Amino acid sequence: MELLVVDDPGALAREAAARIADMVAERPDALLLAATGETPMGSYAELARLRRAGTLDTSSLRVAQLDEYRDTDASDPHSLYGWMDRALLEPLAIDPARVIRFAADEPDAELACRSYDAEIVAAGGIDIAILGVGLNGHLGFNEPPSSADAPTREVALTPESVESNRAYWAGSTIPDRALTAGMKTILATRRAILLVSGPRKAGILDRVLRSAPDPWLPASHLHRHPDAIVIADRAARPVA
Ligand code: GLP
Repeated sequence: MELLVVDDPGALAREAAARIADMVAERPDALLLAATGETPMGSYAELARLRRAGTLDTSSLRVAQLDEYRDTDASDPHSLYGWMDRALLEPLAIDPARVIRFAADEPDAELACRSYDAEIVAAGGIDIAILGVGLNGHLGFNEPPSSADAPTREVALTPESVESNRAYWAGSTIPDRALTAGMKTILATRRAILLVSGPRKAGILDRVLRSAPDPWLPASHLHRHPDAIVIADRAARPVA
């Protein structure tokens, strides 16, 4: 797994967006697996800027959701789909017909997960994944422990993850279950970019970089990915 350290969040956003734009130039109908969370927001804003500048054509780009809270539907502003819609789909003019999403309100979670995976297979697989890492090392909602072949599934969120979602659920009950693309799906992407920003993430990033693939540190499975890069800003990676 390659590591690229850049100066600051702005440079991180530009670097990630440039890599996505290169992929889209090569393959206009690329399928992008897109994390929500704070970390990729600058990159998505930069993609929108490139589109406005006329240097990025997103008219065929396809997107897949990485994870979703259980029992939310796409119209719920708290849903991760709602967040992705505001931050990525709307600014890049990506029609919902070009989005693979979780049917998180489907009573049968197993069915929702199998149909998500089947759509990804039918779409030809994921070309590029933009990922963030949780403070406990999770990718998507692959909470520790998650094996490298963990399937797309319903998961119980750890108390740490529930706590870090609190800010987004002011006043309402924070979900403690979610659907997530499995580690297996994440590791099958053609290219994976893990974005890490800020001093809060320095400790977990150091552990991920040093660790052999370990179910208790799900992001460490990326060491087995054939084309994975970590792009970190200096605050997240103060040491060389
Ligand atoms: C969240 C999401 C992940 C996200 C990660 C980091 O809980 N499930 O998809 O990448 O945690 O979030 P942030 O970028 O806000 O630190």
